[in-house]
Amino acid sequence: MDLKCVNFRKEDGVAWIQFNRPDKLNALNPDVLKDLETAIVCCEEDDAVRVVVIMGHEKAFVVGGDIHDMSKGDINFAYDLSDLVLRVQERLSDLPKPTIAAISGYALGGGLELALCCDLRISAENAVFGLPEITLGIIPGGGGTQRLPRLVGICPATELIFLGEMIKAERAKEIGLVNKVVPFGSLKDEVQAYASKLMERPALALRAAKIAMRRGLGIPLKEGLQIEQNLFCMLFGTEDQKEGMSAFLEKRKAVYTGK
Ligand code: COA
Repeated sequence: MDLKCVNFRKEDGVAWIQFNRPDKLNALNPDVLKDLETAIVCCEEDDAVRVVVIMGHEKAFVVGGDIHDMSKGDINFAYDLSDLVLRVQERLSDLPKPTIAAISGYALGGGLELALCCDLRISAENAVFGLPEITLGIIPGGGGTQRLPRLVGICPATELIFLGEMIKAERAKEIGLVNKVVPFGSLKDEVQAYASKLMERPALALRAAKIAMRRGLGIPLKEGLQIEQNLFCMLFGTEDQKEGMSAFLEKRKAVYTGK
């Protein structure tokens, strides 16, 4: 794969997608977004990939949209850019495998919005989060006003979106924006530990859980419960369900095959 703006590595079932525009703190432009999309599609298509991690560098996960580009843009530019952002984000959030954002340094604007598309967010102690768009005369355009309140609730989300101020990792954990905060030096190991645990779990059940939760948000409870019921019942047709329950009864560790 010929990617310039992201590094892409697959290792023992985990795909590591690392933003690679360090001189601009991984600011998002169409080149970065298209490379990210290519890497995501590769993860989608490769059965050997079980867990996907997106990460930046120590100083920055991603600082958001490229302000140099945006400063020259008009309404048409904004529509084209946000169409691309929304397309890539949809691919990421619909990826039928667990995704983890490994966040160190700045996760701002579109960077935070990408992290919100992941299933889990593991943060380094040096991480800084924010949606500073309001300070630039705009609003978040990559799902920030939609996904953030759904995740952390309207109260902290309003403060972040209205004030555009940054918060540290500790506060992010307090409001439920991230799952765990670890020292920067332990970030990769911690993410690998999460990935290893996820790979021990039955892949089809993980996929079903992801679909049930994501589809269920934003629809009436009754419809969500119907989705859950269908997926729950479907799993009784899998080998992994037989294995999981037999292993329990036989007092041994289950070995799942993803079938
Ligand atoms: N778009 C484009 N370039 C950006 C950028 C962005 N969102 N954020 C940082 N950069 C560039 C800077 O222009 C600078 O490039 P240069 O060296 O060619 O001048 C480089 O990245 C380093 O940034 P700098 O501001 O010098 O680093 P810093 O450590 O002093 O500050 C931040 C870091 C993140 C606090 C600051 O860069 C910032 O506020 N960025 C904007 C964040 C933002 O508003 N994001 C939302 C966009 S919608």
